[in-house]
Amino acid sequence: MDRKTVLVSGGAGYIGSHVTVELNEAGYEVIIADNFSNCDKTNYNGVCAICGKQFPLIEMDFCDLNAVRKLFSENKIDAVIHFAAFKAVGESVAEPLKYYTNNLNSFLNILQVSKEKGCNVLFSSSATVYGEPDSLPVNEKSERKPCTSPYGNSKQICEDFLRDCVNAYPQIKGIALRYFNPIGAHPSALIGELPRGVPQNLVPYITQTAIGKRECLSIFGNDYPTEDGTCLRDYIDIVDLAKVHVCAVSRMLKGEMKQPYEIFNVGTGRPLSVLELVTTFEKVNGLKLNYKIAPRRDGDVCAVWCDPSLAEKELGWKASRSIEDTLRSAWQWERRLAGK
Ligand code: UD1
Repeated sequence: MDRKTVLVSGGAGYIGSHVTVELNEAGYEVIIADNFSNCDKTNYNGVCAICGKQFPLIEMDFCDLNAVRKLFSENKIDAVIHFAAFKAVGESVAEPLKYYTNNLNSFLNILQVSKEKGCNVLFSSSATVYGEPDSLPVNEKSERKPCTSPYGNSKQICEDFLRDCVNAYPQIKGIALRYFNPIGAHPSALIGELPRGVPQNLVPYITQTAIGKRECLSIFGNDYPTEDGTCLRDYIDIVDLAKVHVCAVSRMLKGEMKQPYEIFNVGTGRPLSVLELVTTFEKVNGLKLNYKIAPRRDGDVCAVWCDPSLAEKELGWKASRSIEDTLRSAWQWERRLAGK
């Protein structure tokens, strides 16, 4: 059978590496491209170890149009999944030009070349596009709210780029996946999240505190209008999240899309509070975490979780890993990194 080839931009990163493993398992050829601006080769090596093979690795910057053209000319690429972008919300507020220049230009180049070659494009978007929602859970028809950060804005703008290009150029089909909060690691503990510097996201901060790299977790706010006063999120296991990409790519390549541009929420549909997540982490891993209540963090929304039924119906995908297993995997990954 003719194996289809998927290009994974940012394939050495947290989500890209897990997606590569699932694509490989489903029988796709995968080309990984990364400029290693925000990661090292740990996850790339982990992916090769899990799959028992070396993946083609192209070190390149997607902001370089000639490099993107060369890549597509030298390889027959059936679909591209675009992860190569900056993702730190706070940094994007401090350095908007860095974020807009990188995140928009790289995606424009992918669209340009996809138009020239006729390629399917899967864009990794985020729940951040919903801002503070008017009603919960959010579905794909829920309004996108103005974003409070250039990072969030870049996700909205790239979604619009994709929609407009798909409408104008019939040779491009597009899917945007809106991730809620991806957490956890591969059960092998060979790949996982590798934040640079102080983690901004909750789960890496928890695991680094538990291992002793950080002194104390700050829980940002316990005066929100929720049951225990802490924020509610929809935490989605990274392997579950990786699998939905296989479903989406297959839908594109088999011509099963109902519209040339489609959007799917990727979450569990179950809200969990920060405190619930912390206590579940403690319980399943048999440890006590040093934490304190701190003031609210600027820009945080009180609650957001999704209605994942469209992805379930159309993509035949459902989140299946339990939060307990996910939080065990996050801890195993942190321990492996520490050599414990
Ligand atoms: C953020 C981004 C989202 C991005 C996601 C994954 C926004 C508004 N949010 O989501 O777009 O996709 O990261 O990278 O753009 N918390 C603490 N202490 C900590 C860290 C976090 O209490 O040290 C709390 C936060 O207040 C929040 C929850 O934990 O309620 C989750 O935070 P985080 O993991 O940073 O994700 P989000 O802010 O939801």
